[in-house]
Amino acid sequence: MVRRLSITVLLALAGVLFAALPALAVSPVSSIHVVIAPGSGANTSDITLSWDAVTPVTSGDTIAYIVSKSVDGGNTYSQLATVSSAPLTYTDSGVANYTDVNYKVSVQESGTSPGSADQVATLFPPDTSPHANYTDNTNACSLCHKTHTGVSAYLLNQATILAVCQTCHWGSGTNSKYNVKDGEVTTANGGLAPDLAGPFGHTGTPGDPWGGSGTTSAHSIDQSPVIAPGGYNAAQNLTCTSCHDPHYTGNYRLIRRTISYPNGPNTTTTATVSFAAYPVDSDPTTGETANYISGSVTLCAACHSDFNAPGASGHTPASGTFVTDGMYRHSIGVVPGSYTSPSGASSPLTTTLPLEGTNPVYSQNKIMCLTCHYAHGTVRAGTAVSSVTGAPSTMLRRRDNMGVCQDCHKK
Ligand code: HEC
Ligand code: HEC
Ligand code: HEC
Ligand code: HEC
Ligand code: HEC
Ligand code: HEC
Repeated sequence: MVRRLSITVLLALAGVLFAALPALAVSPVSSIHVVIAPGSGANTSDITLSWDAVTPVTSGDTIAYIVSKSVDGGNTYSQLATVSSAPLTYTDSGVANYTDVNYKVSVQESGTSPGSADQVATLFPPDTSPHANYTDNTNACSLCHKTHTGVSAYLLNQATILAVCQTCHWGSGTNSKYNVKDGEVTTANGGLAPDLAGPFGHTGTPGDPWGGSGTTSAHSIDQSPVIAPGGYNAAQNLTCTSCHDPHYTGNYRLIRRTISYPNGPNTTTTATVSFAAYPVDSDPTTGETANYISGSVTLCAACHSDFNAPGASGHTPASGTFVTDGMYRHSIGVVPGSYTSPSGASSPLTTTLPLEGTNPVYSQNKIMCLTCHYAHGTVRAGTAVSSVTGAPSTMLRRRDNMGVCQDCHKK
């Protein structure tokens, strides 16, 4: 007992001492200015980064800037160069177009280690994203805002938020590699592939990336107010910014940090969303694949909270729900590779559907809403009946009919 106490006291003292040490104070670069120019090779870009000098925290110290690059959405970085004198600039030549790249400029003040003061730029050559990397003299705001002559709230340059997004993400020939109407992404070889979120309003034509099928269901954008099944029984208007923030958020795909949703008659509240994932273009012809790391359910469960059921909800009736207590629901956050059938026999499942997590054994990662659903829309067939409207719908499912169930349970 005395021994244990003394160890605790020592640990506490160590904690106090550690906290008393001065933090490694290094100022980060304020922003990274980006210029994307056509590269000399076919379908490549030359990316020039530049930034302003930072003032050393301790006068007389020297400053070095370490430039590194990530091609896996910021998960891992490799070092490109160290820049220690003017001009503070670095050019990365021959970057393949239609790949997602992140650059990081880390500040190293003499005597400190780099990494404690980083500035990140997220780029999508050949386009410069208007959603991030704003500099002091940016012109990006004017792509969506008008200062004195806005035509809708928030000084927007279009009549609706949807119309703002549509100027770059809707239909072919728009100013982005992501066409969310048709659910298509332009690939590194200039072709088209299905996007990760699924199409909002695709009309199937033979030979298209969705195998000639058109959208059968989608989240309704800018339509009459709708009730979210599994949420409070009050209608809400959905638009692109119900889920996305047009300005950089740090979440995967600019997903908002806070989502508002109805939680009572005429009242709304907010949920905090922290969604980590990254897209990878592993092959120039097949488009992107997503690595989901954590937090995707915090997005979907903001509006559909009843459906975020814990383990064992298949045989334990729900309570404390918005709509109807006593329902049984498929568990979320459970691990297919650890499945035990209700009879008690261990019968691990495998799946080809997306799971969330970083366990190298794929089936040991977790089931999320996006395991069975697309976020925007689907072309899959097979109706189910909405518990809210009574209308039939394919409900954003990733497989025809109940094909998602068979992908895991293989009955
Ligand atoms: C891609 C389009 C787009 C760009 C580029 C853009 N905005 Fe916005 N901004 C919007 C939309 C749409 C809203 C509407 C509110 C919402 O739901 O987030 C908004 C809302 C805002 C708001 C009010 C809400 C808030 O987040 O505080 C401010 C302030 C703002 N923008 C400033 C800027 C500035 C400054 C820039 C340039 C650095 C900029 N925006 C660039 C689309 C854009
Ligand atoms: C002026 C053109 C423009 C407008 C307007 C615009 N975007 Fe974008 N958006 C882009 C570009 C460019 C990219 C980068 C990818 C690429 O090269 O196409 C992008 C990327 C994105 C991404 C992916 C970001 C990531 O980190 O992977 C999302 C999500 C997105 N936009 C949502 C929206 C939403 C929501 C709106 C409306 C509020 C909107 N955009 C309006 C041009 C635009
Ligand atoms: C219900 C929430 C929600 C709404 C509403 C929504 N998005 Fe998304 N969006 C997401 C999620 C989640 C992803 C990431 C999906 C994934 O990778 O599995 C995404 C991905 C994207 C991407 C990245 C490329 C892709 O398609 O995979 C773009 C661009 C985008 N959304 C734009 C839009 C625009 C424009 C609108 C409005 C027309 C919109 N989103 C409405 C949740 C939403
Ligand atoms: C901002 C609130 C909001 C968020 C966040 C949200 N949804 Fe929804 N969702 C709704 C509303 C409202 C409806 C009802 C009608 C519609 O839009 O089709 C709905 C409908 C649905 C439907 C049924 C569609 C049909 O055809 O009946 C599915 C499935 C769904 N959402 C899945 C998801 C998934 C998966 C996520 C997370 C990626 C998500 N939702 C995030 C508001 C939301
Ligand atoms: C194991 C696969 C699976 C997972 C995981 C899953 N869903 Fe579903 N979801 C379905 C299927 C299948 C349907 C079609 C209706 C049915 O079978 O009850 C559906 C229907 C829905 C509907 C429409 C329900 C209605 O009554 O109108 C919504 C909304 C929805 N899901 C949201 C979610 C959300 C949010 C999550 C995560 C918290 C989630 N789903 C996780 C398979 C899944
Ligand atoms: C990604 C894999 C996966 C998919 C897809 C999936 N399941 Fe499951 N299912 C599981 C796991 C894991 C469990 C164990 C849940 C728990 O521990 O609470 C489970 C549990 C169940 C149970 C038993 C519940 C209990 O109380 O023991 C049933 C029944 C079931 N799933 C039916 C379905 C149906 C129907 C679908 C299609 C809508 C489906 N599953 C889709 C993995 C999956």
